[in-house]
Amino acid sequence: MTATSPAPRLATHAVNALLNIKPLAALAKNRARAMMINRAERIGVPWRDRVAELRQLDWEPHRAQVENPDLDYPEYYYRAFHAYDQGNLSWDAALEVECAAHTVHAPLYPNAGKDGDKRGDQHLRSSYHEVLQGQIPTPPRDILDLGCSVGMSTFALQDVYPDAQITGLELSPYFLAVAQYHSEQRDRAITWRHGAAEQTGLPDASFDLVSACLIFHELPLTAARDIFKEARRLLRPGGHFAMMDMNPRSQIYQKMPPYILTLLKSTEPYLDQYFALDVDQELPAAGFAPPTITPNTIRHRAIVTQAI
Ligand SMILES: C[S@@+](CC[C@H](N)C(=O)[O-])C[C@H]1O[C@@H](n2cnc3c(N)ncnc32)[C@H](O)[C@@H]1O
Repeated sequence: MTATSPAPRLATHAVNALLNIKPLAALAKNRARAMMINRAERIGVPWRDRVAELRQLDWEPHRAQVENPDLDYPEYYYRAFHAYDQGNLSWDAALEVECAAHTVHAPLYPNAGKDGDKRGDQHLRSSYHEVLQGQIPTPPRDILDLGCSVGMSTFALQDVYPDAQITGLELSPYFLAVAQYHSEQRDRAITWRHGAAEQTGLPDASFDLVSACLIFHELPLTAARDIFKEARRLLRPGGHFAMMDMNPRSQIYQKMPPYILTLLKSTEPYLDQYFALDVDQELPAAGFAPPTITPNTIRHRAIVTQAI
């Protein structure tokens, strides 16, 4: 662990103290949100127009099609996330997530100008898929996308493995309703399942690849461990588990001023636990081979392992 000099430590304490004052935290959240929307529109993501367009639709029938009303949500899932008080359990989050992802991923593709949003996102996904294709010799027939959100990772996997049967599993019925709507619009055959990744209710040994894109940084350690075990149960012998997420060893996080990291953590409540997750130890403990870890962008890593 690197020692933090007194000045950044003071700034971190100051940021923490301010975030503990509710009205100030709300102000900071609103300010951060306005900055994000303005930044999106500056780089060509039509945030307000796109969200207004989506808001016109009647979403409840879509939710009814995908929702499992008997599902018990894990306690940790009720926390505020990404500046949404209801976390991922709201239409606001579901209708804005695609624009937000494009905006956040834009800087991953340098010099892309106004197309930075799409190219950044495509770069993130294709760099992950290159790792998958390099390490999984036989194209998987049955694929499960854990934490599929509105389907961005699921559609991207289907583009790479067009002959596979793909299931997208997600805990937010709002996000899943949007995924289902997109697949209808785009004529994509994908099975959507409302459920928790740690207890999917899917049959043993029913997948060749279980993939988890950008979900683990949203999880406490206990949930991460449970999901590794569930993925192992769902895989056929020799099947692969793969995840892609923030890389705690990337220079970007290593060199990030601690008070900025504190601000980031205020919208990502389990980031500390994710940064402490030791995949080299936890994946073998769940029945996997030692994983390979490949940095796939300046701030992400792809992790691939095989069921043994
Ligand atoms: C940052 S999003 C990533 C979405 C998508 N995979 C992508 O790459 O764009 C993480 C998603 O994981 C979902 N999630 C979080 N915990 C989950 C759990 N225990 N089971 C299923 N989904 C979960 C969240 O609701 C959210 O949609």
